[in-house]
Amino acid sequence: MSQVTFIERDGTRRIVEVVNGESLMQAGTRAGVDGIIGECGGSCMCATCHVYLTDEDFARLDPPDAMEQDALEFTASHQRPTSRLGCQVKLSAATDGLTVTVAEA
Ligand code: FES
Repeated sequence: MSQVTFIERDGTRRIVEVVNGESLMQAGTRAGVDGIIGECGGSCMCATCHVYLTDEDFARLDPPDAMEQDALEFTASHQRPTSRLGCQVKLSAATDGLTVTVAEA
């Protein structure tokens, strides 16, 4: 079991126990993190799972693939260099301790 810290738009920090193999979006929606919706079910189509990572955490993960990069370009919220779609980030022991900030609306 690993943990991820979600920082909601109002600054609330939510520490969530996550199941290895699930996505950041799945962990966030299961825990009721405000602003993580997952409208398309993880199909890289809706960007309602958009989060910002720290520079250090972004570097810990495999980079976003072309489909995710394309989807990020069309997010309603501002894209940052450390933007990720939560549905495309698979959690594992290697991602224990990630801190992600829910993107602005
Ligand atoms: S859940 Fe729709 S893009 Fe991530």
